[in-house]
Amino acid sequence: MAGSRRVVLGVSGGIAAYKAADLLRRLTESGLSVRVVPTASALKFVGEPTWAALSGQPVATEVWSAVHEVPHVRLGQEADVVVVAPATADLLARAAHGLADDLLTNTLLTARCPVVFAPAMHTEMWEHPATRENVATLRRRGAIVIEPAVGRLTGADSGKGRLPDPAEISAVVHRVLRRGAEATPDLAGRHVVVSAGGTREYLDPVRFLGNRSSGRQGYALARTAAARGARVTLVAANTVLDAPAGVDVVRVGTTAELRTAVRAAAADADAVVMAAAPADFRPAGLAEHKIKKADDGSAPTVVLVQNPDILAELAAERSRAGQVVVGFAAETGDAAASVLDHGRAKLARKRCDLLVVNEVGEGRAFETADNAAVILGSDGTATEVPFGPKDDLADVIWDLVVKRLALPH
Ligand code: CTP
Repeated sequence: MAGSRRVVLGVSGGIAAYKAADLLRRLTESGLSVRVVPTASALKFVGEPTWAALSGQPVATEVWSAVHEVPHVRLGQEADVVVVAPATADLLARAAHGLADDLLTNTLLTARCPVVFAPAMHTEMWEHPATRENVATLRRRGAIVIEPAVGRLTGADSGKGRLPDPAEISAVVHRVLRRGAEATPDLAGRHVVVSAGGTREYLDPVRFLGNRSSGRQGYALARTAAARGARVTLVAANTVLDAPAGVDVVRVGTTAELRTAVRAAAADADAVVMAAAPADFRPAGLAEHKIKKADDGSAPTVVLVQNPDILAELAAERSRAGQVVVGFAAETGDAAASVLDHGRAKLARKRCDLLVVNEVGEGRAFETADNAAVILGSDGTATEVPFGPKDDLADVIWDLVVKRLALPH
C-alpha cells in the first residue's frame, strides 16, 4: 500500500455501523489504505475481525494498546482524510467539544487533514438543538458534515437520520482527497438550487417529446455543493440516478413543473444552476386518450407552442439580492459562428452570471461520465475546464459561484 492515500475510518456506536463495512470495502477496493478506528460501542455492533479482514490492517481500538507507537496522535497526524461513519449524536457532541476520551476522539483532535462526518441517528436526536449546535460548530471549524438521508430508520420509524448510501459517502471521500486543502465547506450556510435531467412534454397519456439528458452533470453539481456544506435542492426531471447524500430532491416531469419547482426553491436561494435540459416546446394540446392510428394511413399533425425560458426569467427576477444564476449551453460551431461566439451571445441574451458552454458531438456531454467546458462570465472572463469527471467541472463551477457570492451587493 506504499504511496496510497491514507484514510482513517472512524466508526461510532450506531446500528448503521454494519453499513460502514460496505463503505470500508469500497474505500479499500478503490486503492485507499484504510485504518479503522471503531469506538467501544461500535464494537458491540460489528466486531474487530470484520474491520481487520476488510481493511487488511490492524484495527486500533483504544489508546492503551501499542502505546509505543503513540497511536492516539499518529493516526490523525498521518491521515489524508478522516471519515466518521456512522457519526452518532454522542460522537458529534464529543467532537464538537474537543473531548479526547477514546482513540477516535484523540484522532480527531490530532488530525490536520479534512474531516468528514456522516451522521446517522433518530430524527429527534438529529433535530435536537444540542445536535444542531454541535453540527454547526463542527461545520464552522471546517469539518464536512453530510446531511443524513431521509427514509426508514431502525424499528418502525422513518424520517431524516439514515446513514447516506455508502457509495455516496465514498464519493465524498474521493472528492475531498482530490481537492486536498481546498476541500473546505465554503458553501456552508448557503442554499443552492440545481436542476437536472430532461423534461418530457406529453402528447397523450403514453407518448412524449423528450431529450437525451441523463441528469449526471446536475447530480454532480448537487453532490459537490452538499460536500461543500450547502443546503441543496435538486429539481430532477425524469432521472434514474441515486439521490446524492444530503440533498433534497424534488421530482418533476414537464417544463412547467420544473419551472414551478425551481422558482419556489429559488425564492431564498443564494445560487441557481440550470443544468437541466427543459424542452423548449410542448404540444399545444394534450390528448386525453391514447392517439389511435387512422385507417387511411394519415398521421396527426402536432402543433407545438414555446415553453417559458426559466433561466432567463430567473436572471431577470433575481428573487434575492446577489443571487448567482448559472446556465448551461450545449452548442455546435457552424459557418457563421464558433461555439464560444454562440455561447457569448446566449450569455448576453439570457443575462445570467455564468454560462457553462459544452461543445456537443464527439461522444461528449450527453449520457457520459466526463465533460469538458468553457465557463463564460458576465464580467468577460472565460474559464476553460479540460475533459474530465463531471464532479471536477462541478467543483470549478462552484469555485466561480463562491467568488461571486463574496462580492459586495
Ligand atoms: N433553459 C431554460 N428554460 C428553457 C430552455 C432552456 O431555463 N425553456 C435553460 C437550460 O437549463 C440551460 C440554458 O437555458 O441552462 C440553455 O438552454 P438552450 O436550450 O441551449 O438555450 P436556448 O435559449 O433554447 O437556445 P437555442 O436556441 O440554442 O436552443
